[in-house]
Amino acid sequence: MYYVFFTGTAGSGKTTMVKEFQGYLLDQDMDVAVINMDPAVEGLPYYPDLDVREYVDATEVMRRYGLGPNSSLIASIDLLLTKASEIKGDLDSVEANYVLVDTPGQVELFAYRETGRYFSSLLVGGNKSVNVFLMDSSLAKEARSYVSLLLLSSSVRFKLGMPQVNVLSKVDLLSRDELDALMRWGEGEEIVDHLGVIDEYSFELVKALLENMEVPPVPVSSNSGEGFDELYAEIQRVVAGGEDFA
Ligand code: GTP
Repeated sequence: MYYVFFTGTAGSGKTTMVKEFQGYLLDQDMDVAVINMDPAVEGLPYYPDLDVREYVDATEVMRRYGLGPNSSLIASIDLLLTKASEIKGDLDSVEANYVLVDTPGQVELFAYRETGRYFSSLLVGGNKSVNVFLMDSSLAKEARSYVSLLLLSSSVRFKLGMPQVNVLSKVDLLSRDELDALMRWGEGEEIVDHLGVIDEYSFELVKALLENMEVPPVPVSSNSGEGFDELYAEIQRVVAGGEDFA
């Protein structure tokens, strides 16, 4: 059983990718389950096998405790901890070769709050896992944003302690020239020339980041299906030959 988490900034395309990647795996006769970890999502384009909204509903939390949208999200994520044993019991009925996990819109809710790490360990148990981190192409096509997203990706990887595959999402929104440039940036080429004036600290940081990039981000479009073969191959490489979930 392999767990594939999908994380990324708000609106980077996680839910759509979960749905389309599920379809991609099903088309190849693979056994797939989907878990929704977002307590605030209103509508889902797939039927989850496990849905945290059945345990905690962010809208209800907002109403009951008179909280604002952000505080109710934080409270909902933390409240999930109180439901951990119930969720664990229901999880035992989720059986599939691949379990795709859709995470909350704001990456920090999942990656930086203890609940995210706690639940990822709870879900994964002794199985292999990988985190697919989505870098939204419409943001990443600007050089400073590209580097910022790589920094965020490194931070999430560090916090979760899980093997990670970076993905450039929504590449159908890019022109051929833009995609070619992003692919060269992924190889660590040219990007420094596009950052404008940067101080020495930032220069050294970017240099270290680019030198230590393991694999360039995989270009994927959930709209066209482009890149799913490569994403699947990369996930397989990580879970079949990679490290265990720490
Ligand atoms: P939150 O969880 O709400 O933060 O969003 P998300 O990261 O789950 O993104 P979601 O899948 O909801 O997609 C956000 C928007 O991007 C939607 O309007 C999608 O239709 C659009 N989108 C997602 N994937 C693609 C893609 O591959 N190409 C294009 N052009 N649009 C996409």
